[in-house]
Amino acid sequence: MLTDREKDIIQRTWRRIVPIRETAADLFYERLFQLKPSYRALFKGDLTMQKRKFVTMLAFVVRSLDWRQSQWQEVIPEDDDLFLVVLAMGRRHTELYRVPDEAYGVFGQALLWTLDHGLKDAFDDDARSAWTHAYILLANTMRIGQGATELGQAIEPMPWAEMER
Ligand code: HEM
Repeated sequence: MLTDREKDIIQRTWRRIVPIRETAADLFYERLFQLKPSYRALFKGDLTMQKRKFVTMLAFVVRSLDWRQSQWQEVIPEDDDLFLVVLAMGRRHTELYRVPDEAYGVFGQALLWTLDHGLKDAFDDDARSAWTHAYILLANTMRIGQGATELGQAIEPMPWAEMER
């Protein structure tokens, strides 16, 4: 789980990405395809729409962080339940889009690189570590949704988290 401090850092840094979200999305996909040109062929639809969907999903994830541990007794409507949404998204990624499991590493690398470029000095060690943790949780939850990961090994160190700056 993310700590409340990590959630605060993610929400604070995300607010700085929002005004530049379109440029950030352009940079992200450019970086992704630079790191792994063969992934371009996986995207069969309109990439402009895809960029919007990706940013909207990240915004949803960040908004869901408002849910604090102390609210555990509250019932969440299914559409707002981050866990269910991410599990289903993971399943679509495997069964519909044929995304290979190893793609999550490169994808995370491109995301951290984009945040670094968008946030500049604000992407300090704490921000990097909070986003890395959040991405690992997100990616592993998607992988659980696709059935590729055993529940028991949900969090493991990923070498790409120590990417070049
Ligand atoms: C945390 C990780 C990821 C997030 C949050 C994410 C988010 C999304 C979202 C919101 C969509 C729109 C459709 C839907 O909701 O099903 C989508 C589609 C897609 N994603 Fe991801 N994704 C992630 C990881 C990946 C990875 C690792 C790849 C591999 C390169 C990938 C490739 C694709 C493809 C090919 C589509 C379909 C695009 C199309 O229809 O043209 N995604 N993703």
